[in-house]
Amino acid sequence: MDNVIRLALQKSGRLSDDSRKLIKECGIKFNNGMGKLKSSATNFPIEFLFLRDDDIPGYVADGVADIGIVGENVLLEAKPDVELSKRLGFSKCRLSLAIPKEKEYSDASYFEGKRVATSYPEILKDYFKSKGVNASIHEISGSVEIAPGIGLADGVCDIVSSGSTLFTNGLKEVEEVIKSEAVMIANKGLSAEKRKLLEQILFRIDTVLSARNYKYILLNAPNESIEEIKAYLPGVNSPTVMPLAKEGWSSLHSVIQEDRFWEVIEKIKAAGAEGVLVLPIEKMIQ
Ligand code: PRP
Ligand code: ZN
Repeated sequence: MDNVIRLALQKSGRLSDDSRKLIKECGIKFNNGMGKLKSSATNFPIEFLFLRDDDIPGYVADGVADIGIVGENVLLEAKPDVELSKRLGFSKCRLSLAIPKEKEYSDASYFEGKRVATSYPEILKDYFKSKGVNASIHEISGSVEIAPGIGLADGVCDIVSSGSTLFTNGLKEVEEVIKSEAVMIANKGLSAEKRKLLEQILFRIDTVLSARNYKYILLNAPNESIEEIKAYLPGVNSPTVMPLAKEGWSSLHSVIQEDRFWEVIEKIKAAGAEGVLVLPIEKMIQ
């Protein structure tokens, strides 16, 4: 089956919706009937395996799946022999230490001699070692957040995204151990055909991810302000400037990075921009 690439996705959980959405925005159509283990696309030579996220690196290393989308946290823990093909920048989260919210906390020495429940024993061991703390690590595979409540541990080290899991279990986050985001991983021995399919998928992902980062901006400004405004909008290329019917005025079109928008908008308004429109970009090829 060298003409089809197998992609492992998380079957349910934090990563699963974002990964499916990304694949759809890449124009790959598939039926993701919940509860299914496998599915194929109708318009791209790809097959999907829906698995537990913790199992994905192992399946990719063994070649059961060719590629996979997982959280970096799972890779750092298991250190599987796979290639990291791309950081995807979504499903951002952190692996953090948390303790019952009523406890007082100063620094990591709090954990000296304490019991900590986690699904990430290797990462946590390294962390405590770097801090010179001796704690006892209890590895559990799920529902880590309930461990302190039932007297199994004094604290936990778990993935935090919105923080609601900690909050509803009466815990507070006290140390960030690592940051994590979704990544694309690949088997190291992909055939040339599969490697080519992976390149095609990564190109589409780049196109979708850059579009998410940028907005299209249109504005009107008096001609004498155009140079100053252009300097605030480096865009991808230089902005397009077109004369308006109104004498002495021009319209300027450019792209702007989403995270710079609020910083730039004040400057261009002060420089005389009017009628500013900001639009989403669907695809962007750089
Ligand atoms: C993690 C973690 C919490 C949740 C935290 O689970 O174990 O349950 O996410 O998110 P929140 O801060 O938004 O509440 P994960 O998605 O890794 O699933 P898993 O534990 O089943 O592998
Ligand atoms: Zn998990």
